[in-house]
Amino acid sequence: MSEELYRPGLEGIIAGETEVSTVEQDSLAYRGYRIEGLAEHASFEEVAYLLLEGELPTAPQLADFRKRLDQHRAIQPEIVETVRMIPKSVGGMDVLRTGVSMAGHFDVAKGDERPALVERAIHALAVVPSIIAARLRLLDGKEPIDPKPGLSHAAQFLYMAFGKAPSELEEKLLNLTLVLYAEHEFNASAFAARVCASTLSDLYSAMVTGIATLKGPLHGGANEEAMKLISRFKSGDEAKAWTEEGIKNKAKIMGFGHRVYKNGDHRARILEPLMADLARERNQQAKLDVYFAIKNTVFDRKQIHMNVDYPCGLTYYLMGLPIDIYTPLFVASRVSGWAAHYIEQYTNNRIIRPRSRYVGPALRDYISVSERG
Ligand SMILES: CC(C)(COP(=O)(O)OP(=O)(O)OC[C@H]1O[C@@H](n2cnc3c(N)ncnc32)[C@H](O)[C@@H]1OP(=O)(O)O)[C@@H](O)C(=O)NCCC(=O)NCCS
Repeated sequence: MSEELYRPGLEGIIAGETEVSTVEQDSLAYRGYRIEGLAEHASFEEVAYLLLEGELPTAPQLADFRKRLDQHRAIQPEIVETVRMIPKSVGGMDVLRTGVSMAGHFDVAKGDERPALVERAIHALAVVPSIIAARLRLLDGKEPIDPKPGLSHAAQFLYMAFGKAPSELEEKLLNLTLVLYAEHEFNASAFAARVCASTLSDLYSAMVTGIATLKGPLHGGANEEAMKLISRFKSGDEAKAWTEEGIKNKAKIMGFGHRVYKNGDHRARILEPLMADLARERNQQAKLDVYFAIKNTVFDRKQIHMNVDYPCGLTYYLMGLPIDIYTPLFVASRVSGWAAHYIEQYTNNRIIRPRSRYVGPALRDYISVSERG
């Protein structure tokens, strides 16, 4: 056995090889394509195809991919009934975890060869927005709406959730956040999904593992927490005063900090100007003031940058989306990255089984209950 290597939180540890994406201080790339170019030009469907298949699709390949997504979008009545039975107080991520687990019972492929794995991934990608939209409508006392073939992935979700075609701007912004959220190398949920894959468990189980891990506020749950924080304040001054106090008391400010990025998150920098334009267009200057007051104070006092969840929370708020679906929408995108990691791990596998360093009591003998005093 080689020399023992331990770092809390596995910081800086290379835990595997991947061709799916690279996260560096000065770049983020999906399969070699810089995020800036993808964010400016690509649809989420192109990005999902790229992650799953390794190359950007040709026009016919993209059309076929979109058709396959459309074929899988309608969820079974059993899934709708399951979602309906979940108490109204249950959060969106918990509902989605159950919904995706249920969708796995309606497997769309046979076998475990690559094409079957990709078909399951497309199924998982297609049903997630349908489950989120169905839950939203059921909570509102309305019945789910059938998907409308031909819409983009982003427009489809907004149509199924709200019953009308979204504006061009809403579709563009949701598409952008889906592109930005799609993949991020060995983050906690992708790694958890890979551990699941490495036992040769099925793809749906790995997606459920990913959802369960993304839910936490230190990971994907941060976009909801960031917006809850912004919503607490009426003015920039109020937000600044609270943030200064929070930093003094060592509070964690959600939407800030990152394990890898120490000079800022590329995705946040891409999203922020569009978010700010939207805020001005929707006459939400006060929210913008609060947003910048928190951001500037965290940086001034701690030199910590925002991560993508910070501008994403406000973007979704400005689009009129309820907070409880912000992290589920992260899932709607990240399924593509998780599935790409699942396939990579599953098709070139060695079980992921690290060691721990034991720090408990030294070896000792069993003492019977009567002698324990
Ligand atoms: C992302 C995160 C989990 C990374 O954790 P990590 O790599 O273990 O970083 P650490 O917690 O060791 O942070 C290093 C230092 O920065 C501080 N810090 C990190 N993120 C902070 C935050 N959001 N607010 C305030 N301080 C923060 C830590 O308290 C620590 O300070 P110290 O050295 O004075 O003790 C962490 O930054 C965090 O909890 N952020 C908030 C949740 C969030 O936005 N998650 C989404 C990530 S994309």
